[in-house]
Parts: sequence; C-alpha cells; structure tokens
Amino acid sequence: MALHMAVEITKNSGVSLTAQIQSYLRKEISGGILHPGTWLPSSRRLAHDLDVSRSVVVEAYGQLVAEGYLEATQGAGTRVVDHLDTAPPVVPALLDEGHVPAVRWDLRTGGRNLPVFPRREWLACYQRVLQTATPADHDYPPLAGTPRLRTELARYLGRARGVRTDAGRLVVTSGFAQALGLLCAVLRQDGGGRLGIEDPGHPRQRQFVRESGVRPVPVPVDDEGIDVDALAASGVRAVLVTPAHQFPTGVVLSPRRRAALVRWARDVDGLIVEDDYNGGLWYARDPRPLALQRLAPDHVVHAGTVSKSLAPGLRLGWLAAPAELRDRLLRVRARHDLGTESLTQLTFAELLAGGLFDRHLRRLNARCRDRRDALEEAVRRHLPGAAVIGPPAGLHAYVRLPRHTDEAALVARALDRSVMVRGGAAYHVRPRHQEPALVVGHAHLPRSGVTEAIRALAT
Ligand SMILES: Cc1ncc(COP(=O)(O)O)c(C=O)c1O
Repeated sequence: MALHMAVEITKNSGVSLTAQIQSYLRKEISGGILHPGTWLPSSRRLAHDLDVSRSVVVEAYGQLVAEGYLEATQGAGTRVVDHLDTAPPVVPALLDEGHVPAVRWDLRTGGRNLPVFPRREWLACYQRVLQTATPADHDYPPLAGTPRLRTELARYLGRARGVRTDAGRLVVTSGFAQALGLLCAVLRQDGGGRLGIEDPGHPRQRQFVRESGVRPVPVPVDDEGIDVDALAASGVRAVLVTPAHQFPTGVVLSPRRRAALVRWARDVDGLIVEDDYNGGLWYARDPRPLALQRLAPDHVVHAGTVSKSLAPGLRLGWLAAPAELRDRLLRVRARHDLGTESLTQLTFAELLAGGLFDRHLRRLNARCRDRRDALEEAVRRHLPGAAVIGPPAGLHAYVRLPRHTDEAALVARALDRSVMVRGGAAYHVRPRHQEPALVVGHAHLPRSGVTEAIRALAT
C-alpha cells in the first residue's frame, strides 16, 4: 500500500534526520494524533516522500519499535501498537447511550431491530447508477434532493401512503432527524419556540427538540392516539405526531381524532408534523390507514425515513411540506449543509422505480409478522395478564403488563437473565399516569429467541 504520512523535519538544522523523525512520531503517537493500529508508509515510501535516504527511516522506525511505540510485522509493514492507550477519551455523541452490557437478548428498539438489508438489490441498483451517472450526478446535488428521487418518492408516497404531493414540494433529508431539526429552526424563527410532543414518545427526539432551542410540550396519548383536547388546552401551535403507529405504544390515531386534530390545526392556523417513521411496515390484516397529510396538506408536514425499512445508517429521509414552508426549510438548510449524498439518493430512486423496495417490504413484513405472532403467543403463555397492544406493525411492540407489576424491578432483574429491555417509563414524561409496560423490539430476533426472551422475563 502506497500510504502517505505527513512528517515535519528541517534539513540542515544540526539535529539528525533520524532523531527528528523519531521525535516527531513519538510526539504524534503520545498525543493521540497517530492512533493505535495506524499503518505507516514503508521505509522506502517515506524516504522517497521526505527525500532522505532509506536508512534514515529504517533507523527511526527500528528505534520506535524498540521503545514499544511501533510494531513491525514481516510482510505486512509497520504500525502504531494497539495497546498504547494514549488517545484522548472519545466524547459520546449527543444522543449515544454510552456503555451497555453484552446480553443474550437485546430487545431495545433502534437500528439493531432491522433484520435484513437487501444487499443484492441495493448493489445492483448502485451499480446501475454508477454505470449511467453523468458528471452532474457527481456534482453537488440540489438542496431539495435529486429530481429523480423526488419524482419516484412522489409516485411512491401517492401510491402507498395516499400523500398529496409532487416532486416540487418534496425535500430529501438526512433522515427524519434533519427534517425535525429544520422544522425546529423555523419554529424558532417564528418566535413560537414550543412543539407539542406525544407522551409517551421518543425520549431522544424530546432531547433533540429541546437542544434545538424549542420547548417540547408533552401531550398525553390514550388508546385512540394523541388527546386533541389536551393539545388545544396546551396553547401550542405545532405538534409532532406518529399517527400511523404511535411511538412507542403502537396505537393508531382513530378517524375521530384525525378529524379533530386537523380541525385544531385549521382553528389555530397551526402545523402538524406527521412522523411516518414506520414506512411500509404494516402486517395487520386490516388495511393500513393512509397518511394524515392528505386531510390537510396545507397544515401537515408528512415526513418519512428509510431508518426502519432499509437502514438508519443510510441517513435518508424526506418531507412533503406546503410550498411556502418548504422554501423556508430550504433556506435554513442552506446555512448548514449542501445536500444529501447523491449516489445514495439515486440508488434509492432505482430501488423504488423497479418495484424492488416493495418486494423488500413484503419480505420484511412477512418476517416481522412471524416474530409478532411468536411474541403474542409467548406473552399469552408466559405472562398472564399482559397483552400486546396496537395492530401488528413495525419492528417493535408494546406489551402492557398487569397493574401490580413493578416495571422497574422487572427491567432490572431481566438483565440477570441476560435480557435487555426498556420499560414504558423510559418513554413517558409523566410516568405517574403510566401503566407498567415493556417496549419490545422483536423483528431482529430468531423466532425461538422471542419465546426464550419472554420466558426469561416471566421467570
Ligand atoms: C419515532 C421515530 N421517528 C423517526 C425515527 C427515524 O429517525 P431518522 O430518520 O433520523 O433515523 C425513528 C427511528 O428510530 C423513530 O423511532
């Protein structure tokens, strides 16, 4: 490998070149700039790049090997040793959970619940994109997203979710997180600075909203979805909801509440952010409710993501917004970002256009259905008095526990049985009103794992 390494030396300084290289590398390694495990250029390559004789570099490397900074492997080369723990501590990212113990069954929700990525199909689409890409496809993408993806998304969202939109009103984002960040910035500009959020809801989203300078105002959720009277009483003029499959309870916003929510938005000239996070994951026998946005496209931002259907690591999402709001969102975005990576956008467009995304979803839904069946059966058999609520959809399920259950103790003791699961309290702002529950990510487990994990919890 023809590696390159920057090394500062001064020729004719009176200090030998070998000593300079040694001292430079020692300092870089001790300071954590050259990281453990970093491969260095061969002595021949470095000597050439520095325009010094090879013996100078060989001697410097040899001395650092003797001092324990470097290790040389016959045939492989020289690298910084792994065990010199000099790197500065890594600061955990804003929303990281930090260290978690290794367990046999990890039932937490998140990217880990995704059982399959359509590798072959993605690769084939990516290859087609690369083969046909024009120089424009390698340029900065339009801030709203590539026209090809927006066209395919408009078709898909109309066909699969009944969203009223077109390519001109869509914005491709780096996941829902970016859509939410942009919306919070616009709320701040308007001086509102408050956003209704569902309680229970996503705790990290709550934190994200707060850290974006907007106050999250919790609004209770019951078996019909968000309580619209409580929302109206809170005085906010914007709300974030998950109507298709409330997170985390799985409740579907009832037709009555949908109508009431839209009425509220019209009355207060407010904004509803529809987080359609589950995408096409619906495997209930009943037909899936269409997007809320279709009832009031002027008051609803419909937002989606591939984080639950393909992979959160792709960081790919979208929003359909009223035209004026879309323009404002783009103006905010232009201050932070130059668009979403274009080859990923084009690959996803290809996946949509060829029907491969639908095929993937069908497979994923069949698998999720199977795990959900196993979960319902295991809960019936091993957790008397408990019930899985909400229609079968998504990568997780909400298990309501008998009233007398000590949820916190159950979650803590589960770890002794090598099961990591979150209780409902972790999602509630006001846990006082909450019934004991578990939020169970099931889609990634083997069928037998679902049963075994629930049996362990019952014990
Ligand atoms: C409620 C909810 N909304 C949205 C998302 C997706 O966010 P993003 O697209 O930024 O990955 C998730 C993923 O975990 C989620 O749980």
